[in-house]
Amino acid sequence: MSDDPRRPLRSRPRRNRKSPAVRDLCRETTLTVGNLVYPVFLHEADGDEPLSSLPGRTRYGLDGLVREATRVSALGIRSIVLFPAVPEDQKTSDGREAANPDGLVPRALRRLRAECPELTLITDVALDPYNSDGHDGIVADDGRILNDETVEVLCRQAVTQARAGADIIAPSDMMDGRVGAIRDALDADGHHEVSILSYTAKYASAFYGPFRGALDSAPKSGDKKTYQMDPGNAREALRELALDEAEGADMVMVKPAGPYLDVIRALRESTPLPVAAYQVSGEYLMIKAAAASGWLDERSVALESLLGIRRAGAEVIFTYFAPEVAEWLA
Ligand code: PBG
Repeated sequence: MSDDPRRPLRSRPRRNRKSPAVRDLCRETTLTVGNLVYPVFLHEADGDEPLSSLPGRTRYGLDGLVREATRVSALGIRSIVLFPAVPEDQKTSDGREAANPDGLVPRALRRLRAECPELTLITDVALDPYNSDGHDGIVADDGRILNDETVEVLCRQAVTQARAGADIIAPSDMMDGRVGAIRDALDADGHHEVSILSYTAKYASAFYGPFRGALDSAPKSGDKKTYQMDPGNAREALRELALDEAEGADMVMVKPAGPYLDVIRALRESTPLPVAAYQVSGEYLMIKAAAASGWLDERSVALESLLGIRRAGAEVIFTYFAPEVAEWLA
């Protein structure tokens, strides 16, 4: 058409890009702070400790946690998820500290509930911070991860968190049947209003490295491939989705996010439930490192990476950039 000198160019897509206002009218996907969940690390110590494995982020004592929650809430962040670094002497092979009503996470929940009542509080359900073997489940003598025995502890962990004030329980352990079992346990304890955000398609990913450094929670032996998904698989995510829907999940997650945009899209097209995605520590760190070297512009690349995750179909994004994004978008 454009080669033909007698026919003018009728379709000019650039007309829809001609000014900021027109581009605003035509934009298909937007990123708002309401889409974001901010992951926060806490520890037993009183003070706060900048994380060398996750530059820009900090491990907080309880006072520091409340201060940080108050700070980000004022920036417009509405939801946070808590990750505890548990002292070595509290870790056991059965991870029982996970269900201690006076443990670090329940104490943090009670303080946040009282001092930041406007925040939606999300908690992680898995044994790795509490397990002396560093696995998300209980490890048998022969190295197998025991599924059903683990689910029993996860149910007690979830009920403990709900009693302490969690709004949303997020099982990240990848044991079979845990969503239904946790739903039953929550309901039996009267927590019908507490939601379950399931890590539906959580991959055995090398991008979790900096997170495990932040919590000292790397597996002592073996890897997580018998419970986390194979990075080559996308159809399998739909099988996990069907199970989680049937078991009563309220939201479903894909993790990591950036390298798995096709999986986010597949879930988005297959379920009416809200889809979440976790931009994990390694994804954050790649952008941070490139920005620190002067190779990439942190703000534009971080915002573009998050917009891409939204465009793929995620409503909810867990990201360590959340406080910065709140400032950038303000
Ligand atoms: C473990 C858990 C992990 C992350 C969140 N929950 C690590 C793992 O599965 O080994 C990773 C988050 C990140 O890398 O930012 N239950």
